[in-house]
Amino acid sequence: MRDLKGKTAFITGGASGIGLAMAHAFGAAGMNVMLADIEAEALAAAVKGLEERQIRADSVLCDVSLRSAVEAAAARTIEAFGKVHVVCNNAGVGGGGAIGEVKASDWDWVIEVNLMGVIYGTEAFLPLIRSHGEGGYFINTASMAGMVSPPGMEPYNATKFAVVALSEGWNAQLAPENIGVGVLCPGFVRTQIDKSARNRPDRFGGAGEVELGVASALVQGGIPPENVGQRVLEAIQNDELYIFTHPNMRVAVEARFARIMEGFDKAEASPALAGIESPFPEIVDAGVN
Ligand SMILES: NC(=O)c1ccc[n+]([C@@H]2O[C@H](COP(=O)([O-])OP(=O)(O)OC[C@H]3O[C@@H](n4cnc5c(N)ncnc54)[C@H](O)[C@@H]3O)[C@@H](O)[C@H]2O)c1
Repeated sequence: MRDLKGKTAFITGGASGIGLAMAHAFGAAGMNVMLADIEAEALAAAVKGLEERQIRADSVLCDVSLRSAVEAAAARTIEAFGKVHVVCNNAGVGGGGAIGEVKASDWDWVIEVNLMGVIYGTEAFLPLIRSHGEGGYFINTASMAGMVSPPGMEPYNATKFAVVALSEGWNAQLAPENIGVGVLCPGFVRTQIDKSARNRPDRFGGAGEVELGVASALVQGGIPPENVGQRVLEAIQNDELYIFTHPNMRVAVEARFARIMEGFDKAEASPALAGIESPFPEIVDAGVN
């Protein structure tokens, strides 16, 4: 999607970190931005910061773990800007812990925000993008934790793998309609993700602490979010599916794939499967994407 000037972006988790950096990058490229977030004060400050740079911005308070709230935010976006073209399903929270020790309410919280939030955002906004026929783009924020699974971060990793899967399938489904789907997979970025529980809704246990499964120092030693915002802008303009920000992490993905291929080698050599023809070769040959 090349022509972004005058178009509108909706960004969840827009009051901080990567979401706010995307808003600035998009705004500098001439887009209007609608920020959605669960944190009211940060949201107001974020809009002020954008307006100070002459970016047309508005905001809506929204908990992405509630389908009705995301639908209301979509309606507010149309009220404010008439149309919407780019939707960033970006709000996310960290959560992890030793196996068997993750609280049930933390599992629910991480899954509802990181996974269901992306689903609600896509389902609420797709009809709105389809209706104007000018094309559009969904950016779903996953993580490098959607490509490899560091131990101790399983709730987070599971949601991010799921966001990669959704994005791959939706990318193929929507390509004929001139609607792109990209999945953002950053490594460490210097944001407030290590303080995720500041915004945990009461029904998931309320604000407080959460076991992240990763040291805060790694997050705070990450790259600046501004570079990530710029990278996403490039990716929208170049119609990219996989959006990486840490090219040196390629080795981690290669190592995972090598282990997966070893599994196929074992299956090929397996006496248990000897003489078995795999069914539906034409489907397998066509691949899934
Ligand atoms: N920072 C990193 O190292 C890193 C790496 C990979 C992926 N990510 C992903 O990037 C995305 C953005 O996180 P960030 O790093 O900018 O963190 P951040 O904490 O700075 O920003 C996240 C924003 O999401 C908002 N939010 C939290 N729960 C919400 C809810 N229920 N509804 C609406 N908004 C909610 C927060 O208020 C905050 O403004 C997340 O999906 C995260 O998983 C971050």
